Amino acid sequence: MPKDTLTLTDNRTGKTYELPIENSTIRSMDLRQIKVSPDDFGMMAYDPAFMNTASCRSRVTFIDGEKGILRYRGYPIEELAEKSNFLETAYLILKGELPTRQQALEWENNITNHTMLHENIKKFMDGFHHDAHPMGILVSTVAAMSTFYPLGRNIHDPESRKRQIQRLIAKMPTLAAFAYRHSLGRPYAYPDNDLSYTENFLNMLFKATELKYKPDPALARALDVLFILHADHEQNCSANTMRSVGSSLTDPYSSVAAAAAALYGPLHGGANEQVLKMLAEIGSTDKIPSFIKSVKDGERKLMGFGHRVYKNYDPRAKILRKTAEEVFEVTERSPLLDIAIELERIALEDEYFVKRKLYPNVDFYSGIIYQAMGFPTSTFTVLFAIPRTAGWLAQWEEMLQDSEQKIARPRQVYLGHGQRSYIPTEERG
Ligand code: SDX
Repeated sequence: MPKDTLTLTDNRTGKTYELPIENSTIRSMDLRQIKVSPDDFGMMAYDPAFMNTASCRSRVTFIDGEKGILRYRGYPIEELAEKSNFLETAYLILKGELPTRQQALEWENNITNHTMLHENIKKFMDGFHHDAHPMGILVSTVAAMSTFYPLGRNIHDPESRKRQIQRLIAKMPTLAAFAYRHSLGRPYAYPDNDLSYTENFLNMLFKATELKYKPDPALARALDVLFILHADHEQNCSANTMRSVGSSLTDPYSSVAAAAAALYGPLHGGANEQVLKMLAEIGSTDKIPSFIKSVKDGERKLMGFGHRVYKNYDPRAKILRKTAEEVFEVTERSPLLDIAIELERIALEDEYFVKRKLYPNVDFYSGIIYQAMGFPTSTFTVLFAIPRTAGWLAQWEEMLQDSEQKIARPRQVYLGHGQRSYIPTEERG
């Protein structure tokens, strides 16, 4: 009967070690027994960028990168995008089960009744330049929220965690909308509790002088689908940041601000903004071959393509391509979609991309949809951060409740100088 163990022989000493295998992994700490002498620190695994390191055990999101599978708590993303809405999906991600009718009503009421911001937040939001990037505003105002809710530091109190989670999910759209209105020099539009989560977000963004904003149901539904698709994605860069910062037991507002800062990067959530700039720069389908050549020559990346985990088509990109057509039935069709579709067609046939298993990811189509809905390019990553807040908080809470987790503090391989003595300035070469 095969044993769930790994037998290693250290050829430096001839010693053999048998390490237990659990969930197809070995524990790194089991390597520490491998020594060449009694005072040896012991062996570590070296894994820059965590290419092959499981940092936690999680039950939130499952991805099969080879098959292009994505499930939240076991439910396929395709079914949730078709049948659910963002708040229900956020409940599922956070609590592990779809809500009953009563639970859904209570959840929606709690979120709806926490959408207002403290008026003082407007004071420092007004301090930003008109052209301040909305992600810069979001990261700093979310961090500042920790000063308005100091009890959020009671991270071991389930009731306190629940209240902060509701506040963060409820207030992210308001923060984002206020940042957008500030950038246009328009007055802030306050939440309308008669509207759904995504309808209210559109209201706070686009309400003009009318007494009551009437959101377009097709656009509100498209935003729901976009938010569902962006809600969580297991241990991505920003989720890892949320867990790492949260492991020091700081408050959830500071951890979400750190996660949002990670998402801001062009290799992560900032890619949707870069895709639009790339498509606009290409300008027309006849320019695609020369652009593809510049990518293959290593001069630039094909933004919105490639993924650390998906080595097949990102299932979210498939759904977004269909959502784009639905949105364009309400808005005018973006010419950039034709460039994107032709770019995808060419790239999927080209050996450079095929060999590297580079497929469109979630950011490839999302920006085209957001632009058609009237969002400026600079707000695209904010539109990623709003729904991902639910995923970050689910990962954070799972980390806090995991008895195996401690403060995240990796080791290193030191290759620097050995000990040396101080050199007085006059003797330095
Ligand atoms: C998100 O992790 C998540 O789950 C993230 C996310 C989520 O929901 O949280 O899915 C959201 O961040 C999606 C990714 C958005 N980023 C982009 O679209 C930016 C462009 N993509 C790349 O920068 C890249 O593909 C990454 C960052 C997404 C993944 O990079 P990896 O896994 O570190 O792969 P790599 O950079 O080592 O690339 C492997 C090879 C290299 O070629 P060689 O050196 O082997 O010759 O593929 C090439 C890379 O040069 N390559 C690309 C490319 N992506 C990788 N070449 C051209 N264009 C690209 N986009």
